[in-house]
Order: sequence, then C-alpha cells, then structure tokens
Amino acid sequence: MKSRIAEKFKTLFGEDGEFFASAGRINLIGEHTDYNGGYVFPGAVDKGIMAEIKLNGTDKVCVFALDLDEYVEFGLNEEDAPEQSWARYVFGVCRETIKRGGKIAGFNAVFAGDVPLGAGMSSSAALESTFAFALNYLFDCHIDKFELARIGQSTEHNYCGVKCGIMDQFASIFGKAGNLMRLDCKTMEYKYYPFHPEGYRLVLLDSVVKHELASSAYNKRRESCERAAAAIRKNHPEVEFLRDAGMEWLEEVKAEISEEDYMRAEYVIDEVQRVLDVCDALEKDDYETVGKKMYETHHGMSKLYEVSCEELDYLNDIAKECGVTGSRVMGGGFGGCTINLVKDGLYDSFIAKAKSAFSAKFGHEPKVYDVVISDGARKLQ
Ligand code: GLA
Repeated sequence: MKSRIAEKFKTLFGEDGEFFASAGRINLIGEHTDYNGGYVFPGAVDKGIMAEIKLNGTDKVCVFALDLDEYVEFGLNEEDAPEQSWARYVFGVCRETIKRGGKIAGFNAVFAGDVPLGAGMSSSAALESTFAFALNYLFDCHIDKFELARIGQSTEHNYCGVKCGIMDQFASIFGKAGNLMRLDCKTMEYKYYPFHPEGYRLVLLDSVVKHELASSAYNKRRESCERAAAAIRKNHPEVEFLRDAGMEWLEEVKAEISEEDYMRAEYVIDEVQRVLDVCDALEKDDYETVGKKMYETHHGMSKLYEVSCEELDYLNDIAKECGVTGSRVMGGGFGGCTINLVKDGLYDSFIAKAKSAFSAKFGHEPKVYDVVISDGARKLQ
C-alpha cells in the first residue's frame, strides 16, 4: 500500500511527503454503550488507512483517494465543504482542528486503506484519526490524544450526520498491539488489557450486507436512550446517562416512556453490566463466560435494540450450532460483521460450515477476517 501511495503522490505533486496511518477496530463487548456513558472494550486492528501528506504553502487542501481514484480540492473555511462523502471526513477533521485552536493551512495528501467498508470495523474513524493525528503533528497543534479522538467524533456529528459515541475514534487513536482497552465513556478512564486468549481465536464473519439508512436508524437509537434517561432523571437527578441507572429505576418510568424506548434502555443497562462481567471473566481467563456474554449481547442487539438483521442472526445461529464459544453482531449493526470467539480446534469446521450454509441461504459467502490486534494512529518511518 505504501509504495502505491508514494508513486501516486510523486506523480501528482512531484515530491515526497510523510507517512501516517491509523486503524479500524473491533469491539469485544459493549455495543451502543458509549453514547450512554457506559463501557466499551475495543481494540485497533491490522486493517487501516495510510496517508502521505505534505504541506503545500497555500490555503488549499488537495487530496487524492487512491482506492476510489478520485481527486478533491477544498479550502479551509466552513463554506468550502466538499460534496464527496469521503472528502467531508478530511474536511471535517480540518475544521474541527481549527475549532480547537490548531493553526493549519493547505496540504497535499494521497491516502488508501484496507478496512472493509460497511463491515462495522470503522473505516471512517480510521480515516479521521489518520488525518487528525497527522495534522496535529505537521502543524504542531499540541492537541492531546483524547481531543484528537473527539475531533473525529465531532467530524461525524457536524459534517457526516452520525451522532456517534467516542469508541471508534478512541480505539483508532489509542490502540496498542496485542491489547484490548476498556474505556469508561463517562469518565474517559481507560485500561489496556493484554489479550492473548490461549486456545481461542477471534474471527470476524462479514455478511457483506449494509442496510440503507443505517445512520438515521443509529441516531434514532440514541434519541430513544436520551428520552429514557431524561424520564429517569426526573426521579433521580444524578442520572446523567443511562449508564447511571439500574433496571429498578427504568421500571419506575415504564408507563411514561414508549415501549420501544423501554426496550432500548433495557438493552443498554444490561450491556453496561455485561462489559464489567466480561472484565471479571478475563481476569480469570474464563473465556466460557466471555462467550456467554457475547451471545447475550447478540440477543439484546437483535431483540431489544433491533440493530441486527436476518443475515447476522443467521451467522449467530450457525456459530451456536457449531459450538462456538461466543458470537455476536459487532459495531453499530444494520449489517456488517459478527465477532466470534472460537476454540482453535473448532475454527476450520466452523468457517467451512458458515461459508456453505450462509451461501446456500443468501447466495454469497461471508468474508472471513482473522483479528490481529494492532497499533492505532502513528507516524510511519
Ligand atoms: C458505531 C459508533 C460507535 C458506537 C458503535 C456501537 O460504531 O460509531 O460510537 O456507538 O456504533 O457500539
């Protein structure tokens, strides 16, 4: 990838720049908990975005997306927003950096990536983090790592229409090879967990399905949670997020909120607890419990939060039938991947069965990605 980028950069701009990269992510457990102030358990992966960048002495940004073979130029003022959705991520990062006092100017860039699009592995966070990290470095902005993650998140909110939480950008900026991270999204405290489950593997099965309107459905889930939290807050003013409430407090407002909002909140309250249970289980190398919690999450995401789909439920069923330790839909949902915790000895037969059964039903095989937990945002030599 690096040599392809370098070649294109040279052809387009006649010189060489510096290289930066960041990563997509997985999440072991803790889905849709981040914007509810709860816990998440992500890690960066070995698939990401790489960019070559050099300041160009103008006030114009000139970017080439190698995988799409598309070139875009834009200025750095609010009214200069480009049309192309991929370019809006880069533009958003520039604007959000400026809003945080970063004194940035024009630059040339070529980027490429290998995070599967629509798979729920957060290719957009990888793109945002690469540029946020790079601009901070190149323009000496002195923005700390949490704020770099927030630059990506605000880009999604303000330029891409997704009211996401902080998990993806956090994972992409803070990721460390061989480590998952537990993040408390309320206090932003985090802890690295070396993750080398002996005798098990993590594998993603990509349904290669991406449902439309995923971002508006995502925003609706968030609104449901906020309504439920607001109802609980009337009785318990200390409740800032759903994370601060237990099921008893949700019960108290059951009659006041819609059935749908109740189901969403029930899922979130359970899920926050499941992350803590998984942490305890990991301390004891108890992967059977980890896996059991993953199945519970899938059930909640499918039946209460309603962000799964036929294809993902089917992949989950196959995992269960094959005796896979844990399996669930990963990321925002509405298509994308399942994440599976599989015993080494079961791996080959599970993958074979998933491929044949899935393609018999849906006409194509799922894609298989072995998870390699890797470093997040960085400058390359
Ligand atoms: C998307 C969002 C994250 C998070 C997950 C669900 O990936 O970007 O902030 O909410 O969905 O856990």
